[in-house]
Amino acid sequence: MRVLPPRVALFQWRALRRASAINDTFSLTSATRPEDLSRLLKLAAKRRSVAELGTATGWTAISLALSDPGVQVITYDPFPHPERSAYLELVSPDVRARITCIGAAGSSGPPVGLEVELLYIDSSHARDETIAEFAAWRPALVPGAVVVFDDYLHPDYPGVRAAVEALALDGHPVGTMYVHQVRSATRATGR
Ligand SMILES: C[S@@+](CC[C@H](N)C(=O)[O-])C[C@H]1O[C@@H](n2cnc3c(N)ncnc32)[C@H](O)[C@@H]1O
Repeated sequence: MRVLPPRVALFQWRALRRASAINDTFSLTSATRPEDLSRLLKLAAKRRSVAELGTATGWTAISLALSDPGVQVITYDPFPHPERSAYLELVSPDVRARITCIGAAGSSGPPVGLEVELLYIDSSHARDETIAEFAAWRPALVPGAVVVFDDYLHPDYPGVRAAVEALALDGHPVGTMYVHQVRSATRATGR
């Protein structure tokens, strides 16, 4: 927790207490861990438009919104996670207002016209789905945008690494994640 900005650390601490209180073991095991969350927040710094694929119960979406009052977060998950409301109510309405939850697969792609500065993929962890998600979101990535693949180095999720390799994206591991930065010339051509 000490690696996180104070507002985020406070939220995570309160979320942990609430998860224990309501016996929400899914959140306790699925939410991005503080070390990688800290790295993600650093990558998101000064980026106004963030998309997350794999909302789960919202811990990372809320943390991203808390970390910067200027950021808008759009987050996708096709599966209902009713416990999410228990965590959204831990933060103020102005933070909640900057989080848009979409009940759809990440591969359904962004709303028309959305420009994305950071894409965080933490969804099915399956090779083909991850490839489909990247393809769907690629046109929305602005030059210099960062794409973060969660669990790239996690031994239980070989699909993420297989997807990154199939996509042949340049980049590097950061913690357990893989980080790719969009070059200026790649947007227009899609290459
Ligand atoms: C590891 S959890 C995400 C944790 C969340 N990012 C956090 O840090 O709090 C993975 C989530 O991906 C969702 N998911 C599974 N398939 C998906 C898909 N095709 N598109 C988007 N989300 C998906 C699951 O419902 C689950 O909530």
